[in-house]
Amino acid sequence: MSKDSLTITDNRTGKSYELPIESGTVKALDLRQIKAGPDDFGLMTYDPAFTNTAACKSRITFIDGDKGILNYRGYPIEQLAEKSTFLETAYLLLHGELPRRGEAESWAHDVTHHTMVHENIKELVAGFRYDAHPMGMLMSTVAALSTFYPEAKDIHDAQVRRKQIFRLIAKMPTLAALAHRHSMGLPFVYPDNDLSYCANFLQMTFRVTEPTYQVHPVLEKALEVLFILHGDHEQNCSTNAMRAVGSSGVDPYSATAAAIAALYGPLHGGANEQVLRMLEEIGSKDKIPQFIKDVKTSGGEVRLMGFGHRVYKNYDPRAKIIKVMADRVFEVTRRNPLLDIALELEHIALEDEYFVKRKLYPNVDFYSGLIYQAMGFPIDMFPVLFAIPRTAGWLAQWEEMLLDKEQKIARPRQIYLGSPRRDYAPLEKRG
Ligand code: CMC
Repeated sequence: MSKDSLTITDNRTGKSYELPIESGTVKALDLRQIKAGPDDFGLMTYDPAFTNTAACKSRITFIDGDKGILNYRGYPIEQLAEKSTFLETAYLLLHGELPRRGEAESWAHDVTHHTMVHENIKELVAGFRYDAHPMGMLMSTVAALSTFYPEAKDIHDAQVRRKQIFRLIAKMPTLAALAHRHSMGLPFVYPDNDLSYCANFLQMTFRVTEPTYQVHPVLEKALEVLFILHGDHEQNCSTNAMRAVGSSGVDPYSATAAAIAALYGPLHGGANEQVLRMLEEIGSKDKIPQFIKDVKTSGGEVRLMGFGHRVYKNYDPRAKIIKVMADRVFEVTRRNPLLDIALELEHIALEDEYFVKRKLYPNVDFYSGLIYQAMGFPIDMFPVLFAIPRTAGWLAQWEEMLLDKEQKIARPRQIYLGSPRRDYAPLEKRG
């Protein structure tokens, strides 16, 4: 008998089965042969929310949640955050290797020269109400891009895919800035190809009347680091949405719009926004004990936002980097007064049995919003700031899924618990 196998005895029939174990998993489909009788469909697994199911084989991002390790294509996130740029990291995520000199230049050129959006997109944004959430505007404009690039449907052509990848990575900051300017009632600022990816985004967002916008190097670097940290995070909710929607063969703009929708939720990329709202609501350090009490007694309804993670059962390595960077940013901007509340919250929570027992530590969203706010971004732009860099990860995962011969259209099974067959009753006979 092979050592890398699992023997299962079905107590309904007394039969034994040997299933191969590969990379610490058994194939769910191998269970199908286990039947109680000839008419039995075969055994399935039940795993709501995929808490213990690997849905793909991937070479992009590695996480060890217990040790707090995060690597992109093998490179530790700490090294990338210190030494790389967002564009270089995006290349790494998509191509598997860091770019060599010529590759880095042509990659930067390709992205930089696709930052413009069609003027009709401006009109589309102008149609939103003045108080529309920027994430809703981003989601809609990304979906609308699919109508501007109908050739994007040809997802099996590598050249066509490459072009949409440049376009999406390049246009995300432009669309994000457009959404922000609309909320503020400010005219749209066109991209400046002489600036870096992050500096250009900052000028499109914040430039007012000055002929050339001077981007502070510390803030530009802070945004680079935040974008690198948000580049990918393996099979999270939005990446799963990207893969699942993309598996139907739809174009990457539509799949990315679906991923943005998934990211928008308060338990995912919307959490950075919720952290700030929570800190503002707490208001002062003396209110923290009562808030912690509310979290503990609410039966899961009130959550300490920015804490906890499905995978990390240790300090999120991204949160560690962000915490250090916050100090550098606050030397340039004014210190965010909410930082003291956040630090005290963290201090109390990390010593409280409720959080210790459940291994709840600060995640990437706990401190990022404080930096974004100090940089001048309104709170509802925070999830948008998550979506811009995550687009690189989504696209890398989407392409990996398309090229994976084992993948098919995503289509989970269900356990049906509804009514057995019954006959339709006309309205007058329904009582
Ligand atoms: N505050 C209070 N209690 C919590 C929290 C929290 N932030 N997170 C989890 N718990 C409790 C939860 O109530 C449950 O308790 P019990 O065992 O008594 O029922 C236990 O911890 C396990 O929680 P879970 O909901 O089963 O864990 P999950 O893996 O399904 O959820 C999570 C992960 C991130 C959705 C959750 O920790 C959470 O809601 N955190 C707050 C929202 C947040 O910060 N999200 C950003 C995640 S990082 C960025 C990203 O990648 O999206």
